[in-house]
Amino acid sequence: MKDTVKNLFYKEFCYNPDKLYFSPGRVNIIGGHTDYNGGAVLPFCIDLGIYAAVSKRKDKIIKVYSTNMSKKGIINFNLNNLDYDKNRNYVNYVSGVLHKLKSLGYIIHYGFDMVISGNLPRGGGLSSSAALLVLTTKIIKDLMNLDITDIEIAKITKAVENQYIGVQCGIMDQFIIAKGKKDNVIYLESSTLDFEYIPCELNNYKFVLINSNVARKLTNSEYNTRQAETQEVLKILRKHVNINHICDLSPKDYNIYEQYIESHDLKKRFKHLVNEHLRVKQARDALQNSDFESLGKLLYAAHISAKNLYQVSSNILDELVEMGMDSGSLGSKMIGGGFGGSTLNLIKSDNMESFLTDFTIKYKNRFRRTPIINIVNIVDGVRELL
Ligand code: GLA
Repeated sequence: MKDTVKNLFYKEFCYNPDKLYFSPGRVNIIGGHTDYNGGAVLPFCIDLGIYAAVSKRKDKIIKVYSTNMSKKGIINFNLNNLDYDKNRNYVNYVSGVLHKLKSLGYIIHYGFDMVISGNLPRGGGLSSSAALLVLTTKIIKDLMNLDITDIEIAKITKAVENQYIGVQCGIMDQFIIAKGKKDNVIYLESSTLDFEYIPCELNNYKFVLINSNVARKLTNSEYNTRQAETQEVLKILRKHVNINHICDLSPKDYNIYEQYIESHDLKKRFKHLVNEHLRVKQARDALQNSDFESLGKLLYAAHISAKNLYQVSSNILDELVEMGMDSGSLGSKMIGGGFGGSTLNLIKSDNMESFLTDFTIKYKNRFRRTPIINIVNIVDGVRELL
């Protein structure tokens, strides 16, 4: 991939790139929708992602070409015109970063040429948007010698998603892609951004992703509705208890305060969040004790809660989860925003072969096609490739 992206750069721009980068996709083991409710998450970076080749230019033009969007050709824009532009398509993620950096007072005099090529499966829900945002920020930081920490990169790119792209997401995806570490997952408290690396060498157990093949566009989905619903819950709760976030409350508190919430749906969102926040802590402990059996149970419980209480699953995701469990997964769940994307399965290495065989048979019988399965490794976050 590294050479491919380098060669593609040469083909498009007729000179060699100065630098090469890789920005990974992410998996959240557990902590569904807790990150914009002050709760904890447990994500890691995977060995699938976006590769980039770049060079600084001597003028103010930015030129971007993506092999995944090759029909669009090279998309250009100027540093003097950074407002959102529908015609710029996916390159708005690039202009959005520049727009934000400029508004924060960073001085950027020059543009750049960039070729990107990703191997994240389409519709996999593995956060290609955060991967592109973090990648772009890291590249600009390096090319223009800007003084920006990894955590600032996470905050800046989250702000671009929220304010420029219009998705009211939390900080999990941007944070893990900026700070991820090989063979470690991150336990992150989203309210304070306190975090801890939890070593996770996957020798006897593996994480397997199954792609539902249903592309999910967060902007068009109910993601923003869930964000608004939880704001509503918080508003009601704050009339009765002094909290900053829903996840400041425990499952016991739920029993005390649920009476103040009339809407049945809002009660369900509340219940999911307090239980899920607790599950993340339990999952962290299970990982630290290498107790993968308990971790698996927590994953499945998290899926059931995402399905019944937070209501962000889909029939296909639910079927894939059940197929995973029936094929020997220790725990299976949807990951990411929901309504499509992938399921995560925790498999004992000794059972991998039988899992893959059983799952493939079941899947083919049901969907009449071959499943898209990826056994993933835990890798470092965004980085320059030397
Ligand atoms: C998407 C968002 C994240 C997080 C997850 C759900 O991936 O970008 O901030 O809310 O959904 O856990």
